[in-house]
Amino acid sequence: MFCNHQSMVAINRRVVLVRRPQGQATPDCFSVEETPLRELEPGQVRVAVEYVSVDAGTRTMLRGEGFHQQVGLGETILASGVGRIIETAADGWEIGQAVKGGLGVQTIATVMSSAVRPIDSATGPLSLHLGALSASTGATAWIGVRNIGKPQPGETFVVSAAAGAVGSIAGQIAKFDGARVIGIAGGPDKKAYVVDTLGFDAAIDYKNEDVHARLRELCPDGVNVFFDNVGGPILDAVLDNLAMHARVVICGAISHYDDMDNITGPSLYLRLAERQSRMEGFAYFHFPDSIGPATIELAEGVRDGSLTSTEHVLDGIERYPEALQFMFNGGNTGKLLVKVS
Ligand SMILES: NC(=O)c1ccc[n+]([C@@H]2O[C@H](COP(=O)([O-])OP(=O)(O)OC[C@H]3O[C@@H](n4cnc5c(N)ncnc54)[C@H](OP(=O)(O)O)[C@@H]3O)[C@@H](O)[C@H]2O)c1
Repeated sequence: MFCNHQSMVAINRRVVLVRRPQGQATPDCFSVEETPLRELEPGQVRVAVEYVSVDAGTRTMLRGEGFHQQVGLGETILASGVGRIIETAADGWEIGQAVKGGLGVQTIATVMSSAVRPIDSATGPLSLHLGALSASTGATAWIGVRNIGKPQPGETFVVSAAAGAVGSIAGQIAKFDGARVIGIAGGPDKKAYVVDTLGFDAAIDYKNEDVHARLRELCPDGVNVFFDNVGGPILDAVLDNLAMHARVVICGAISHYDDMDNITGPSLYLRLAERQSRMEGFAYFHFPDSIGPATIELAEGVRDGSLTSTEHVLDGIERYPEALQFMFNGGNTGKLLVKVS
């Protein structure tokens, strides 16, 4: 028993990039490697990772160049994670402390203590800190809605990838703020989830419906705020249905990520001029002062049940490559996570 425990913690299992994807990131672009643990250096902590976050933006880190930090061949895939400290060579850190940070897709992360921050376990399951209570999901949605889109009561707010991690929260915040919310998502199950579980006013299934025609029908006075996670033809369909003085929030463009060298459009951007509207993009880290207030408000919403935070969990570190592909095929509803231990 003791020996098993020793061998379990003496080896790290990590997911590394072995081939840069062409098109979709398929599981053969990754391998799972086992590495013996080294002695801690001063200032380091060792974390047993419990969950890692699966993020759309990770695909753009596999290209070898671009806006995001890049993953080199043979390197561990970058990802946020949560876990507990199992060994420390840093002052002020205790064994068992729950932490969050850029832990990477691995079972045991050995990092400088400055790379992690403590989590208060009393706020709920650790996984919440990768979803509703994380900067790159909950606060991202909050920032895009509150700082950029600013929907007013009675306005029509449309969000794409509406059943996903960021989109589901963005739509709920807009709804709290009094907007009429329409979600665009793929498939009948997601369409039902967006209306029945998230409480949006309507949904469009872009895989089976004509988005342009449905927007005309659902938004006869035009779209006041569009929170876009997808780009491509969906962005064009909404641009063609803007109200006067509309705000188009560019949060992401997942439809581009598999083929960043061959992006065309948006082709209908002239509608911005015709409708005296604006399009503004952002990354959550452009608004560091908003992350604290956003997280406090979202935590309150989770606590009192007014915010629905769905998690979609795949079990086992070796399933990370499958999970990334799953997301790009629209498999996830809510925040996609891999459970490590
Ligand atoms: N600006 C920032 O700071 C920031 C931070 C975090 C994330 N983001 C962006 O936010 C967006 C959502 O990220 P997330 O991590 O929350 O992922 P997510 O929404 O939980 O998952 C991605 C969803 O995108 C949809 N999708 C995938 N390929 C698509 C395509 N070709 N066309 C239309 N929809 C497609 C799928 O849903 P369907 O089944 O509906 O197709 C999938 O479930 C991404 O664009 C990401 O880059 C931005």
